[in-house]
Amino acid sequence: MRFGHFDDSRREYVIATPHTPYPWTNYLGCEEFFSLISHQAAGYSFYRDARLRRLTRYRYNNVPTDVGGRYLYVRDGDDFWSPSYLPVKRELDFFECRHGLGYSTITGERRGVRVRSTFVVPLGHPAEVQRVEVTNTSTAKKSLRLFSYVEFCLWNAYDDMTNFQRNLSTGEVEVDGSTVYHKTEYRERRNHFAFFHVNAPIHGFDTDRERFLGLYNGMHEPRAVAEGQSGNSIASGWAPVGSHCVDVTLEPNETKVLVFVLGYVENPTSEKWERPGVLNKVRARSLIEHFSTSGQVDAVLLAMELHWRRLLSTFQLESPDPRLNRMANVWNQYQCMVTFNISRSASYFESGIGRGMGFRDSNQDLLGFVHLEPARARERIVDVASTQLPDGSAYHQYQPLTKRGNNEIGSGFNDDPLWLIFGVAAYVKETGDFGILKEVVPFDNQSANSAPLFEHLRRAFHHVLDRLGPHGLPLIGRADWNDCLNLNCFSETPDESFQTSGNQAGRTAESIFIAGMFVAVAPDYAYLAQRSEFEEEALDAKAQAEKMSETVLRHGWDGDWFLRAYDFFGKKVGSHECTEGKIFVEPQGFCVMAGIGKDTGHAKKALDATKQLLDTQYGIVLNQPAYTKYHVELGEITSYPPGYKENGGIFCHNNPWIMIAETTLGRGDRAFEYYKKIAPAYVEERSEVHRLEPYVYAQMIAGRDAPRHGEAKNSWLTGTAAWNFVALSQHLLGVRPDFEGLRIHPVIGREIDKFTVTRRCRGAEYVIRVSNRGAGDRAPRLTVDGTAIHGDLVAYAPAGSRVVIDCEV
Ligand code: BGC
Ligand code: NOJ
Repeated sequence: MRFGHFDDSRREYVIATPHTPYPWTNYLGCEEFFSLISHQAAGYSFYRDARLRRLTRYRYNNVPTDVGGRYLYVRDGDDFWSPSYLPVKRELDFFECRHGLGYSTITGERRGVRVRSTFVVPLGHPAEVQRVEVTNTSTAKKSLRLFSYVEFCLWNAYDDMTNFQRNLSTGEVEVDGSTVYHKTEYRERRNHFAFFHVNAPIHGFDTDRERFLGLYNGMHEPRAVAEGQSGNSIASGWAPVGSHCVDVTLEPNETKVLVFVLGYVENPTSEKWERPGVLNKVRARSLIEHFSTSGQVDAVLLAMELHWRRLLSTFQLESPDPRLNRMANVWNQYQCMVTFNISRSASYFESGIGRGMGFRDSNQDLLGFVHLEPARARERIVDVASTQLPDGSAYHQYQPLTKRGNNEIGSGFNDDPLWLIFGVAAYVKETGDFGILKEVVPFDNQSANSAPLFEHLRRAFHHVLDRLGPHGLPLIGRADWNDCLNLNCFSETPDESFQTSGNQAGRTAESIFIAGMFVAVAPDYAYLAQRSEFEEEALDAKAQAEKMSETVLRHGWDGDWFLRAYDFFGKKVGSHECTEGKIFVEPQGFCVMAGIGKDTGHAKKALDATKQLLDTQYGIVLNQPAYTKYHVELGEITSYPPGYKENGGIFCHNNPWIMIAETTLGRGDRAFEYYKKIAPAYVEERSEVHRLEPYVYAQMIAGRDAPRHGEAKNSWLTGTAAWNFVALSQHLLGVRPDFEGLRIHPVIGREIDKFTVTRRCRGAEYVIRVSNRGAGDRAPRLTVDGTAIHGDLVAYAPAGSRVVIDCEV
């Protein structure tokens, strides 16, 4: 069952009902100011950091769900309602939400009044602009009274939940004309404030929540709206809000437009005040001036469209399958931008408080983002590498505002450093900017201890080699990619964090996943070493990878698949000898991607076992059988009920590893079958089961051991986005930037018999026309501008050129 449809020509998903199986959200903003917005206009805005600079309030995990947003109340005679359905929930004659690239439009109509609100965070400005078009669709004149509403957060969203006794006395506002200013704590150490403005004269306002809503009322029944009259309240402590009351009179068919601006301003310390106690509003006014007319909003929307058209033109696919086209051309790339911007911090499943930017996460996000805006990818690489510790290890997370490593969680996830090599390699392949390897970057943000970026990579690579366990396999540390496989933790105390506590002395647990990753990244590392004129290091890296491959085949092979790990006691994890957790997906994906056992048949066996034991109708589960008991020596993974999260859930993130692995064996039919199982556009028809947005990936879909098999959780912020884009664009469609050229090697199976990819890379444009007859097991035959070439590598053309490649496979 569907709850909407894709409007491909406008690159929008159109939600046709407020009653979706879960709030379906979008992200506004792609620079410093961000908003989350659900199809019912709930969500919140923040400047750079969702914890420390949260402008508006949102109530996570609440009843009913999705509480707090930018709300509009329409009072029409005795009736009042909300065009976004929530919060009033009065039945609408028409509802539609269009989530587009960087904007959302929500339309509601009731009793002859149609309101269309467009929400956008303009490029280059720290503000959310809301354009509200009100139309009289009836045959009689209408006199309406509109009330806007946002609730200000008291900036530190953590305190807002935990130390609110303080906040109840700190709230301060000013009202100036049609603008409400939220200036809590500005009197002391802050130089930032927020405002909420409307471009029309107001009949009244409220800034005190209690006065606007009524102490015992919900947002669906504000006292001011019910009475038809604002209270003109000035908040003093308690809960500051911004509400305007605007009168609108409309003849039949007439439309009037209002523009609201929710903005963020920083004043230099010396310019904080206009006069004692009164905010200096100069910067706010100039921000407002950019958006005082509907025409200015049109310009913002046009700029947004052009921005996205330009970004997405880097990679465009034409294939006979519209679902594939919309994933490749629009939604998967869009999600990659969002994960790049937000990492795992703020979504409808991540509070924006607990987690900053993940070291591992950010590097993976780069893989799917780097082609869109390489310059921003470069900055991110430098930020991330600056948090690396001198011994090569990495803070697991860092805060976006300070860019400092997060001490609360610390380091010790032994896969983390290796991801930096993946990120840097992807960037260099895309851009040819080998100069980045010479960029001097600090360790742990201490400029006194800096080194060229290549040295960071060297320490990352050796961090693994310096920490090998009894079998010669990499020590796992706190955990590897699977944050919940905590083999050294042994937690018996409730409330203890598996991620940070109790690492046992000795720590001999080893990870075959890290081994696979090490071998997978070694060729890129060796290449970068050689280009940095460290010939011996390059040779040594290849030798070490060779040795690690042998070690994996000797100690990391279980007979029919790759083992997952050795635990603290040297016992196997992910082996047929285990009673539960006999097989895990991660090492099958990474070891095969690394090429381990390709020539010996191990790789094929491992993938066949994956198919047989882990594949379900909704995707590949993480492990089987799922753990039914808590195992103190395995940690958090066994704390999840069977079928959820890392314990037998379909972790969408590692499904593409298996897809890529299948393509390395030339098995395109199977790779594409896996692709279709989890790609959101293909699951649209079963939205009532999947429940989350059909336009973006979720982190997890409940596995077959779970009562709710097929139900997704945690949409948007997941490495799934980047990895699926890599799998699809580089391996299934087979257009893969490499250091020396563009590698063209499609392995997508027989269903997609022909397609064209237009790819811009290093300033040149490549039009790749593929005629695909086989399953993917034949070497492609290429002609470049009409001339046949050997192999699958097309040398990079000079910037500005256009190259036509014909590929038969
Ligand atoms: C991940 C989850 C995992 C959790 C364990 C987080 O980093 O998002 O997948 O279940 O850690 O607490
Ligand atoms: C989500 C985390 O963000 C990611 O880093 C991790 O690899 C997966 N969970 C698996 O545990």
